[in-house]
Amino acid sequence: MIRMIVSIFCFLGLSLMLNAQTNNVIMPGEIWPDNNGNPIQAHGGGIIKIGMLYYWYGEERRQGLDTNYRFVSCYSSANLASWKFEGDALKMADPDSLGSKWILERPKVFYNKKSKKYVMYLHVDGPVKGIQGGYSYARVGIAVSNKPAGPFKYVKTFRPLGHESRDIGQFIDDDGTAYLIFEDRPFGFRIAKLSADYMGLEKEMCLIKQPMEGGAIVHYKGLYYVLGSSLTGWDANPNRYATATSLEGPWSNFKDVALREKKTYGAQSSMLLKVVGTKTTTVIFIGDIWKPSTQWDSRYLWMPVEIGNGKLWLPQPQPWKLDINTGGHIINPPVVNKP
Ligand code: GAL
Repeated sequence: MIRMIVSIFCFLGLSLMLNAQTNNVIMPGEIWPDNNGNPIQAHGGGIIKIGMLYYWYGEERRQGLDTNYRFVSCYSSANLASWKFEGDALKMADPDSLGSKWILERPKVFYNKKSKKYVMYLHVDGPVKGIQGGYSYARVGIAVSNKPAGPFKYVKTFRPLGHESRDIGQFIDDDGTAYLIFEDRPFGFRIAKLSADYMGLEKEMCLIKQPMEGGAIVHYKGLYYVLGSSLTGWDANPNRYATATSLEGPWSNFKDVALREKKTYGAQSSMLLKVVGTKTTTVIFIGDIWKPSTQWDSRYLWMPVEIGNGKLWLPQPQPWKLDINTGGHIINPPVVNKP
């Protein structure tokens, strides 16, 4: 009997998830199944658009992975709601003899139009003898591929412009220029322009003297909005933003993106994605709801933000639907019952 009830609940749960998926409704905080029905594993991720397709890269944290390696998964989508698993784009071994506890986090992929290469940036970290803590190596890693879904080949690790680097974020401006955002503790976080071949960093745009992780940027109606979280590890905190008319600054004071007590609804920023359609533009807050002791079950908070005139606001998460063509979105769309 109990088994029967459990099966019915599982079935109902799965149908709801698949229903959400087929109706292309994005459900913040819920399990987000891919085309195979498996929960999407793309934590601390980044997204790029190539032709008509979006590619979502992230930390692959499914159970049963070979613990000798770290994996980056890749998914593709034409509408940002239903995602096809493209496989593990990167399978990487400990690059610099860091030991079994080495860390690969927050992969971000940039497409270089000139070289036609996909260049993946990684936060590579791990313990270092004589220094306390598991995140002492503080470097950036690079892997390269000829195709968006990989296989990516590891190339090198380094300290960007000679600085420590932990959380990384990506920003591609409207003119196509690519930037890396990296956390350089204890100074703050830096925004730097990638070199012509994307294999390194060419120029620092600014240092924002604010302890911030999960750095994200969007350019909207003539203003740059930078967003990030405080340094509380896997625990959620009130994420904050600032604005400037140029990436070089000066940046405004930081303000909360949601009510402080909501702690960003349990999420940490990873990216701000701008979808420009035929009629309007939607900017999506893309964040992670981490579950440190069951990382494979960490969730995503994707939600359109209210943005403009120097204000950025993340509303209460609710189901929503994007119109990829017009760029518009509907919050709480009517439920369509498909058999
Ligand atoms: C977070 C960071 C994550 C991960 C975690 C480890 O602040 O954004 O990517 O490094 O700390 O505690």
